[in-house]
Amino acid sequence: MRTILVTGGCGFIGVNFVRLLLSERQDWRVINLDKLTYAGNLQSLADVCGHPQYTFVKGDICDSALLDRLFREQQIDTVAHFAAESHVDRSITGPAEFIQTNVVGTFTLLEAAKKHWAGKDGCRFLHVSTDEVFGSLGATGFFTEETAYDPRSPYSASKASSDHLARAYFHTYGLPVLITNCSNNYGPYQFPEKLIPLMLNNGLHGKLLPVYGDGGNVRDWLYVQDHCEAIVRVIEQGRLGESYNIGGHNEKTNLHVVELLCDLLDKKVGLLPSGQPRRSLISFVKDRLGHDRRYAIDASKIAKELGWLPKVTFEQGIEKTVDWYLNNREWTASVTDGSYQDYYQKMYGDRT
Ligand code: NAD
Ligand code: DAU
Repeated sequence: MRTILVTGGCGFIGVNFVRLLLSERQDWRVINLDKLTYAGNLQSLADVCGHPQYTFVKGDICDSALLDRLFREQQIDTVAHFAAESHVDRSITGPAEFIQTNVVGTFTLLEAAKKHWAGKDGCRFLHVSTDEVFGSLGATGFFTEETAYDPRSPYSASKASSDHLARAYFHTYGLPVLITNCSNNYGPYQFPEKLIPLMLNNGLHGKLLPVYGDGGNVRDWLYVQDHCEAIVRVIEQGRLGESYNIGGHNEKTNLHVVELLCDLLDKKVGLLPSGQPRRSLISFVKDRLGHDRRYAIDASKIAKELGWLPKVTFEQGIEKTVDWYLNNREWTASVTDGSYQDYYQKMYGDRT
């Protein structure tokens, strides 16, 4: 029996993680703490809100009094820490929120766990991080757990800071910390500002598809459910104080991904009303500042030590993802028109 605090459980990966726990870990109680920023979507979990294992709490990981109350009243023994500002483009135009949530928020959460877990056995603090802390690769090579940190955007610098804090709490205070560094996720419930859902939404509505720079930047894609399964594996079997790289060996250029999405949409919903294929919407635009060229994960440590391997190939995952967005167009519509943000008020009124 565990009581797990999932922070950021209304975000893309958090929603998929909560769903996985409720279906596959019947003896875990799940407390979802989420501030419901623009990226948090309570509607994504509407169908599980009355589940007996599940509790939602609206709140900020920077609020130490709230964390104190939750750790005490709910007897939390496990943390899966997803909450973060996660979009690189936003970190370039407005880094302050990234420092607040990703650095100060993680610090506040670590402090709460340290205070409440003193003298307790069996607790686990899983800090969810990214491969972007390692910087940018050239044409060859992979990020391993030994690769030196070299973050290059305000987002990745804030995540690197939080990784260092998490590791420091293990070494200094013996907090039972585990860290995962994962590559690009894709799948259901991803906010349509990120590459794949943005291109799907624009492509469906005949809007331009903005590819940064020459489209040759490479990302290593992993289906979100595989990431969530890896996190459960690390919580249950990971060695304390260790970090685990997670990735799918699916290196693709951005242009390849966008062209594939265009072709899948053409096949599934037909060509544009003009009779043109969707590739005609591709528009090369000004590059992202400091744009990392290539990421690629060596996931052999988690494979060898914990027996985790991704189950979903890129071809299967991308097809599932396109189908999900086509079958859930009202989800994307409510995000793009902003109405998803009314859902908390509808469900809980003025309660905080
Ligand atoms: P997301 O932006 O979709 O969701 C973030 C969630 O955190 C939202 O629900 C938001 O409301 C919540 N949140 C933000 N600030 C908060 C605060 N101060 N207090 C409480 N809740 C807050 O992010 P995601 O893509 O689901 O990523 C989740 C985690 O996984 C992040 O830590 C990210 O760095 C990491 N990660 C993401 C990817 C990816 O490809 N998306 C890959 C590797 C690692
Ligand atoms: O690698 C893991 C990281 O992956 C996570 O830590 C981040 O939270 C997550 O957002 C993601 O970061 P990226 O910057 O790689 O993801 P994004 O979807 O923003 O962009 C993917 C690639 O596509 C990147 O090279 C930039 C490019 N891009 C993105 C957008 C939104 C475009 O060419 N056009 C676009 O409109």
